[in-house]
Amino acid sequence: MKRVITYGTFDLLHYGHINLLKRAKEYGDYLIVALSTDEFNWEEKQKKCYFSYEKRKQLLEAIRYVDLVIPEKSWDQKAKDIKEFQADYFVMGDDWAGHFDELEQLTDAEVIYLPRTPEISTTQIKKDLNSKEK
Ligand code: CTP
Repeated sequence: MKRVITYGTFDLLHYGHINLLKRAKEYGDYLIVALSTDEFNWEEKQKKCYFSYEKRKQLLEAIRYVDLVIPEKSWDQKAKDIKEFQADYFVMGDDWAGHFDELEQLTDAEVIYLPRTPEISTTQIKKDLNSKEK
């Protein structure tokens, strides 16, 4: 069985997220999503989520491509997670291209960056909704 792991916040779940998860799952049979906790988002990414960790987790677990959701609590847990969950592929959108190449030396996983779906992001949704209110 081939296992795939990916990381992200997945707030206000949108079709860009679904496209990413669908393509990630195509690399294997079991997809693990490491979901940024509210604390990690706030303290490390200065992002305040609309949906709480528990709600974001519930949404991800309802997606057919997702087999397991685990918490992402720090930047440096990736190599440990890959080993613990025996991931064969580490997949991220290409906004992170180059950032995680070292994982190929630290683990046995192959690092893959998938093209982002154009013109959609959680940030953009928030901006659009905000500007409509004004
Ligand atoms: N992603 C994607 N295409 C998009 C938006 C996101 O492929 N249009 C991917 C990201 O590259 C990442 C995963 O989905 O691998 C989770 O991204 P996340 O940062 O949670 O979503 P964004 O919509 O980019 O959120 P934000 O605007 O807060 O950065």
